[in-house]
Amino acid sequence: MIAKIKKAVIPVAGLGTRMLPATKAIPKELLPVYDRPIIEHVVKEAIAAGITEIILVTRSGKEAIENHFDAHYELEHRLEKKGKETILGTVKNIIPAGVTVTSVRQSDALGLGHAVLCAKHLLNNEPFAVLLPDVLVLDQESRDRNYSFAAMTDAWNETGVGQVMVERVGLEAIENYGAADLGGESSEPFKSVALKGLVEKPSPTDAPSNLAVLGRYILPSKVLDLLETTVAGVGGEIQLTDALDELLKLDGLNAFETDADIFDCGNKQGFLSANLAVGMRDPDTRQSIKALIEKSGW
Ligand code: G1P
Repeated sequence: MIAKIKKAVIPVAGLGTRMLPATKAIPKELLPVYDRPIIEHVVKEAIAAGITEIILVTRSGKEAIENHFDAHYELEHRLEKKGKETILGTVKNIIPAGVTVTSVRQSDALGLGHAVLCAKHLLNNEPFAVLLPDVLVLDQESRDRNYSFAAMTDAWNETGVGQVMVERVGLEAIENYGAADLGGESSEPFKSVALKGLVEKPSPTDAPSNLAVLGRYILPSKVLDLLETTVAGVGGEIQLTDALDELLKLDGLNAFETDADIFDCGNKQGFLSANLAVGMRDPDTRQSIKALIEKSGW
């Protein structure tokens, strides 16, 4: 019997240095992508795939993230009194009934692998998801908004094999990502293919492929045991990728390619592009952006 994925770890302890000065006082996860904080898009993506327990791995100074998912009685009361039902709905029902948001602290910035390990005692030996909060996965308009992550979760539910979402990037950009080695096997969107290796931030000349790990994972709990003995790797940090490279040799692990648009909202270009892409899906905003572009001659 394959255990369904109910828990998702979202590491939010980063300092957001690539987005300074915008992130000096505001957690980068709360910067808005169009009409809501980026983290809300990511949490909704997890919930759409059946996740019912969100575990934030956070740090001091980022309490505003937890507040965003909590009730705000005064605001709710005032909006209710003024009859502003539509706005009230957007602040009141962010987290549906039956879904919980818990947080745990990462006291030192020792890397993504370490952040995930900080949630071990809440994961109860169950398989779990990891979603990186500065990455926005925007599925094609012809599909459901959160199609890719839900489809990857289904791939786990059917096989019990861990899944790592990947996208094709230009080879020169692969040094910013974990890179997937498929051993010559071909990949296509929404096909789950056995991984032969994973390398964190290889140089383009050493990269096994241009398939980049984009920040969505479904993992068996064994990875937590492996992380306990994973030594610091690239950048002096405990890398999740290194533990996954171990895991795939022991139990197998699959790459799951997507053709969704992927935005790294942790840098200015990615952030602006994400805002534009999400905004363009609102017909009114689409019209005004098009008018602005026409007028400016961009
Ligand atoms: C992390 C992971 C890397 C992955 C990337 C996706 O790196 O370690 O494997 O490709 O996220 O955004 P970071 O961007 O935190 O350096």
